[in-house]
Amino acid sequence: MTQSQATNTASRPAGGRLAGQRVVVIGGTRGIGFAAAQAVAAEGGEVVVASRNPGHVARAVAALGPSASGHALDIGDRQAAAAFFAQVGPFDHLVTTAAQVLRKSLLEADLDEARASFEGKFWGQVHAARFGAPLIRPGGSIVLVSGISSRRGLGGMAFPSAINGAIEALSRSLAVSLAPIRVNTVSPGYIDTPGHGGAERSAVLKKVAAAIPAGRPGRPEEVAQAIVYLITNPFSTGTVLDIDGGHLAS
Ligand SMILES: NC(=O)c1ccc[n+]([C@@H]2O[C@H](COP(=O)([O-])OP(=O)(O)OC[C@H]3O[C@@H](n4cnc5c(N)ncnc54)[C@H](OP(=O)(O)O)[C@@H]3O)[C@@H](O)[C@H]2O)c1
Repeated sequence: MTQSQATNTASRPAGGRLAGQRVVVIGGTRGIGFAAAQAVAAEGGEVVVASRNPGHVARAVAALGPSASGHALDIGDRQAAAAFFAQVGPFDHLVTTAAQVLRKSLLEADLDEARASFEGKFWGQVHAARFGAPLIRPGGSIVLVSGISSRRGLGGMAFPSAINGAIEALSRSLAVSLAPIRVNTVSPGYIDTPGHGGAERSAVLKKVAAAIPAGRPGRPEEVAQAIVYLITNPFSTGTVLDIDGGHLAS
């Protein structure tokens, strides 16, 4: 075990749809990724979480309980991604929620920051799929994460929109080229998570989300349910599943 690796030694609950399955969640230490890791553990799966901040990793592993483990990793770093998967070894399902979103318009954004956001979210998911796919056992799957700005012109979201569109296109192509590994994407709308801004943004989010059919922002666990569905449904591949409270429909 390395210094950047954390393990929870509590015993795993018996049963569940993911009993005996090993699920890697890149970005699984906060927000939607952490909720997905919790949902996997609740289904009896063994979960491996990874993110950049070792403190986030240790806290998540402690909270996740049964046989969770974690690694510090910047998935945008190609060499680190390759080394991570070599260390993790064979597993069943890959979920990639890691991202740091740049909410700036084309004319306002620092272009180095814009490139860095592609490195983390788009190239991060490419790295995860490239180095993770060869280790996925038969019956396994990949769930990528985009966002509804791929298909909706949201002001100040030029770069997330482009990244999310690229991920959805990537996902459909990978569903064909990596078969029989199933590849799906979950596309969240407004979800109230720590990374999406703390108390101030949370209030803004609630106000904006009042106009969508659901009348409120989503919860991380509502996206996590969709991720578990995509992992466990053997006929789902090439799907982009919107969990957006009706935002795209309105
Ligand atoms: N929340 C929303 O409203 C919303 C809407 C549309 C799409 N999405 C998408 O859903 C996904 C999850 O969003 P979220 O709101 O749950 O985000 P979040 O709360 O900020 O959590 C992001 C997680 O990813 C990790 N991370 C970030 N960059 C990383 C990197 N380069 N390498 C490894 N780990 C990294 C973070 O931990 P560390 O800080 O420790 O690295 C954290 O655990 C993202 O792709 C986001 O764009 C979210």
